Amino acid sequence: MEVRPVVYGQSSRPPRGDYSRAASDYTCTQNYAAYTEVEHATWRQLYARQRALLPGRASSDFIACLPLLGASERIPHFEDINTRLQAATGWQLVGVPGLIPEVDFFRLLSQRRFPVTDWIRTRDELDYIVEPDIFHDLFGHVPLLFHPVLADYMQAYGAGGLKAADLGATELLARLYWYTIEFGLVREADGIKAYGAGILSSAGELAYSVTSPIPQRLPLQLERTMRTRYRIDDYQHTYFVIDDLQQLLDFASSDFAPLYDRLRQLPEIAADERLPGEASIPV
Ligand code: PHE
Ligand code: FE
Repeated sequence: MEVRPVVYGQSSRPPRGDYSRAASDYTCTQNYAAYTEVEHATWRQLYARQRALLPGRASSDFIACLPLLGASERIPHFEDINTRLQAATGWQLVGVPGLIPEVDFFRLLSQRRFPVTDWIRTRDELDYIVEPDIFHDLFGHVPLLFHPVLADYMQAYGAGGLKAADLGATELLARLYWYTIEFGLVREADGIKAYGAGILSSAGELAYSVTSPIPQRLPLQLERTMRTRYRIDDYQHTYFVIDDLQQLLDFASSDFAPLYDRLRQLPEIAADERLPGEASIPV
């Protein structure tokens, strides 16, 4: 089994972080002194393993941005990354004890603040963890926050999330997050590559997502994607493929309200369903 982040706010288990440390917006300071040498070694091992798997599988944008994280040897200080991130795209990392309620999550994103879980998994969880930890959040998500297009998409998504909450449509919008930010694939000149954080922080799913004949890979279409349910306890059965990151940012300029109304009338699509006329993109 592999790293299996759950979508923010939908965990059925009690969260594992210490929420008594958090402020009313759920942010907390990174208790850096509390990390043990074993935990730094866990970070180093996870980082080295994932980085070795990237060539030929991760998107060229992700590979280009990863060095900006600057944290291959030890768990990084959020403030160090923030100095570089502020200069690059104006984003800031804020510590959180773990998963936070979706409206609070959307609000932080709309303010260009990205919540990062400050604890790291144990030695028993190198291949599988049920909640996002600092490795998933930093290694998976933060490199592309240095990319101007993805940076703007994430903020627009946060603002769109606040609006979806008012319209009672967060489940529909969360599927878009899942199939782009967490499990998105992108078409590049030399093949299909991963840009989603849930894939990029997983040792097993990274190769699976771009080479296995088992899952289907469909061109990302807004309505199809938002109707498609997803699995949080297994590799994905369906991946949605974009042509480039700019395609995501185009969603920011269209009003989703009429779309939500339409989608509410349509049936959901199962995680592994293939509709008539659909063809999986060959890899
Ligand atoms: N434009 C969308 C809306 O009107 C919000 C959104 C922006 C969604 C960016 C996804 C990404 O609700
Ligand atoms: Fe995530």
